[in-house]
Amino acid sequence: MKILAFAVREDEIESFNRYSKKFSLDISFESKSLRPDTVFLAKGFDGVTFLGNCNVNQEVLKKLNSYGIKFIASRSVGYNNVDLESAKKYEIKVSNATYSPYSVAEFALMISMMMLRHIPKTIKHIEKNNFSLNGLLGREVRNQQVGVIGTGKIGKIVYNLFKSLGASVVAYDLYQNNKDINYVCLDELLKTSDIITLHTPLTAENYHLIDKNSISKMKNDVIIINTARGELINLIDILEGLNSNKIGGVAFDTFEKEVGIVHKDCSEKGYDYQELKNLLTKENVLITSHQAFYTEQAVSDMVESALKNLIEFNRDGTAQNEII
Ligand code: COI
Repeated sequence: MKILAFAVREDEIESFNRYSKKFSLDISFESKSLRPDTVFLAKGFDGVTFLGNCNVNQEVLKKLNSYGIKFIASRSVGYNNVDLESAKKYEIKVSNATYSPYSVAEFALMISMMMLRHIPKTIKHIEKNNFSLNGLLGREVRNQQVGVIGTGKIGKIVYNLFKSLGASVVAYDLYQNNKDINYVCLDELLKTSDIITLHTPLTAENYHLIDKNSISKMKNDVIIINTARGELINLIDILEGLNSNKIGGVAFDTFEKEVGIVHKDCSEKGYDYQELKNLLTKENVLITSHQAFYTEQAVSDMVESALKNLIEFNRDGTAQNEII
């Protein structure tokens, strides 16, 4: 089977080489993302793997179908970048990946604690030679109520990590199927939590789940954490909540319209995104570069998982992580 891997980063090559040897695969690498103007590169291949930053829309799927490609495997968990209706129409099977959920869960805990102890503000102060304690009085995790939105693999670990530190933890999920989790309705979570952390996939229904309306229900001084998908949160409404001091702080590893900025070095050219620039002027904001997943373990798992899915699609017509 001939596989083309799109959006390959340097740090993935070692894992690709290791697993292509282990599974006897013929893999070609492409650093460009999979999108309408690059899909032609897939001609002559049997299967394709890509990442969450690719744009697998109708045009891409139509072309893949015309090249005879019958299955594609994402190396990401989130698959909101794939037009599943078109995949069905063009009879292309799609899988997502499974990888160590501890990568993202530990990151969410870390940035939550950084916000509780005002670390973004501390860094900004120290850069200006201000070593005073002014404005840095912190809060202990065990005295917080944490609201976890989404209790899949990652959310469950986040829930347990905060519990193990003595926090009171509640969760909201459309599917309340874990007897060890204290589920509440979304409104109660919003009204009672000191920290709200998002771990739900992005769907048409939860686009801008956090907006003016949901922010108005939150406690004053709330901390909002996003390591899921940027489009879950309306950035303009967050800026308003920060400006009015309703929100105590935000730590976003993902933010809406991030494609073209995250995972890129924009230090020379800059970037054109005023809301992000406004957020970055604030002392109670921490922005990271969609890197919560980025551990040695998770990167290796992502490659292994996608390749296994392609092998299974090719051999059995179905795969462990088949979405459709
Ligand atoms: C995912 O796996 O869904 C991610 O967010 C990571 C990725 C975009 C590299």
